[in-house]
Amino acid sequence: MTIEKTTPEVGGMGHSLKRKEDSRFIQGKGNYVDDVHLPGMVYGQMVRSPYAHARLKSIDSEKARQLPGVLAVITGEDLAKANLAWMPTLFFDKQMVLATGKVLFQSQEVAFVVAEDQYTAADAAELVEVEYEELPVLVDPHKATAADAPILRDDRDEKSNHIFHWEVGDKGATETAFQSAPVKASVHAISQRCHPAPLETCGCVADFNKATEKLTVYLTSQAPHAHRTLFALVGGIPEQNIRVVSPDIGGGFGNKVPIYPGYVCAVVASLTLGRPVKWIETRSENLQSTGFARDYHMTAEIAADQNGKVKALRVKTLADHGAFNAAAQPTKFPAGLFSVCTGSYDFRSAFCEVDGVYTNKAPGGIAYRCSFRITEAAYLIERAMDVLANQLKMDPAELRRKNYIQPGQFPYKTALGWTYDSGNYEGALNKALEMVSYAQLRKEQEEKRKKGELMGIGISSFTEAVGAGPAHTFDIAGIKMFDSAEIRVHPTGKAICRMGTKSQGQGHETTYAQIVAQELGIPASDVVVEEGDTDTAPYGLGTYASRSTPTSGAATAMAARKIRDKAKKIAAHLLECSEADLEWQNGKFLVKGAPSKSKTIQEIAFAAYTNFPAGLEAGLEAVDYYDPPNLTFPFGTYICVVDIDKGTGEIRVRRFVAVDDCGNVINPMIVQGQIHGGLTEGFAIAFMQLIDYDESGNVQGGSFMDYLIPTAVETPHWETGSTCTPSPHHPFGAKGVGESPNVGSPAAFVNAVVDALSHLGVKHIDMPIAPWKVWTILKEKGVVN
Ligand code: CDP
Repeated sequence: MTIEKTTPEVGGMGHSLKRKEDSRFIQGKGNYVDDVHLPGMVYGQMVRSPYAHARLKSIDSEKARQLPGVLAVITGEDLAKANLAWMPTLFFDKQMVLATGKVLFQSQEVAFVVAEDQYTAADAAELVEVEYEELPVLVDPHKATAADAPILRDDRDEKSNHIFHWEVGDKGATETAFQSAPVKASVHAISQRCHPAPLETCGCVADFNKATEKLTVYLTSQAPHAHRTLFALVGGIPEQNIRVVSPDIGGGFGNKVPIYPGYVCAVVASLTLGRPVKWIETRSENLQSTGFARDYHMTAEIAADQNGKVKALRVKTLADHGAFNAAAQPTKFPAGLFSVCTGSYDFRSAFCEVDGVYTNKAPGGIAYRCSFRITEAAYLIERAMDVLANQLKMDPAELRRKNYIQPGQFPYKTALGWTYDSGNYEGALNKALEMVSYAQLRKEQEEKRKKGELMGIGISSFTEAVGAGPAHTFDIAGIKMFDSAEIRVHPTGKAICRMGTKSQGQGHETTYAQIVAQELGIPASDVVVEEGDTDTAPYGLGTYASRSTPTSGAATAMAARKIRDKAKKIAAHLLECSEADLEWQNGKFLVKGAPSKSKTIQEIAFAAYTNFPAGLEAGLEAVDYYDPPNLTFPFGTYICVVDIDKGTGEIRVRRFVAVDDCGNVINPMIVQGQIHGGLTEGFAIAFMQLIDYDESGNVQGGSFMDYLIPTAVETPHWETGSTCTPSPHHPFGAKGVGESPNVGSPAAFVNAVVDALSHLGVKHIDMPIAPWKVWTILKEKGVVN
């Protein structure tokens, strides 16, 4: 599927237009939730538990209430009277809004103080006296089902910390393949608990107008419509009386998909007081209590023959969900899309099982820049392939090449049930190898090893699965996953496009305009894109899991094509010919064989309001709700080169080449920006980030002093390249891309470090690979004293 390139003035697909939204962002004129100031607005502050597991004996809020300026102190008992002490999670569990009975993780929400200003609210929160009785704490997920483990969830009928067992694949065929396989390789790898840590923390302003009975919630929401529906269903407020507005959002990465207790408390406080209530969490609150990511403890085993041809894959995983199962993912998939763990390889048999457990940690399991657990899956298979290569003493690039699904095999049904739409894995590998000068690097490594120097090369050839729906398989809390676009062309040929998705920095205001430009010939600069207001935008499921381009991007093209169909009728009327005589070219309809006779889209738009044919409705607009027939499967090959300092264990990423394939590209510069950002996050996960807990359940990564964010100083230089394998089922052949770099890169970093140490017998190191870990290994191996 090739895309005809428009002129730079029109700025359709393939043009690196500068992002429209950046003009306001770089001038500091963005409008975030904390910028919302409403008359009479008051402020909420959470009281949080210092303990990870404790019985709540009493809450005395009298002193807090006495503080001048304090308007209310809400506790779990108060919420219980309105049946709101617990709320449903997005995954068949329930979660305390404010604690009743006991607390289950450090920083859990215990009471909500509302005051005239935020400083008074913070002071008053410290005056709330809570008496706790400490209980035994469960931190290690491996001990969750031990006979002596404390049972965390008294509220459940099942007196167990086990949440679910899920399995997929053909167990029998996989066992048989393993029994006869001459080579077996295995790795135990942890995709550690980490946090998206978006630039802007979560927050809201809830504004209930007692006169109109309308509730407006300004919210850091990646899914405004879904949140509106959930507010209506849980809170009992008629949905037409709820307006959710997501203004500018400073990064989401999955962190802004769940509904958090702070939102519910702000709404309850506003309903009670009849005043707007703002709640904005601090950085520590964000890191300690909102949706964490990963925490998958995985084992992969590969059965292969002596030549390195893979036969079967067996995966066993323990998932730590914290105190509540608040995974934000489609309800059919207890472990998200983790079963894409066969990756880019032609495994004939596979079996995968996952067990979820509760521990005394913050709840979550969100898809941090990841299509629901795909980062975990990609990391595991790409690590396992390297372990196999090492065991067979094969070059990891050659092992991959030998096992790729071949271009002629698409659409390809994996052993675990996914149907990949298109791919050319060897193409991406070859390009990356060439860009990095692989053969030369291997020679250099050999020479360096002789001199005792440590250098490693890591490869990751990942496959992603993005763009949820289709609606028959995917839903969030029962709401089917499709997405939408509405385009309205004004009489002067300019347009507004409203979307069911919501950008958090991905550049949607630019790229959706480019799709309209491509399809209708209206310059992208003449198209305004609006997202995030449920009173105006068509219903959609929001932006996460790289779903915007595959779903709303497709809807934009489909809506534009509906407009073009109507425009053709108007053009035929204006040109006094039949529709069959017209052809579409570069933003105008021309009469076949008489190209001087034509009408531009702008002329047609004017006629749609001033001179339209009898029997046709006035106006030029369309809406499309797009239900994709399948996910899209972007892929890529990443190669990382590291040098390790023997004295300190310090790792320097010397080079990082990323070749991505997301089909047809809307805006190459934006895609490159997405890759740079995601690689930086992957770098941080591989080397720096962990939300850890001590044995009492105290969070160890609860501030930026401990939870490290790479700055420009630490971040390596990224070298990007691309191949193009269009999606055969997407209207313009695009696949999503936003998450690919986060999904594909951790394995490349870790593979590089392990490769640098493999001659010492090192087979695996768990992330984050801090210098001390490497130094300890070097010491154990006698490389340093
Ligand atoms: O859902 P989300 O916006 O996070 O992910 P996406 O659909 O992968 O898109 C991320 C950004 O890259 C958007 O601005 C897209 O329009 C852009 N993109 C593109 O220009 N070409 C593609 N083939 C895919 C995405």
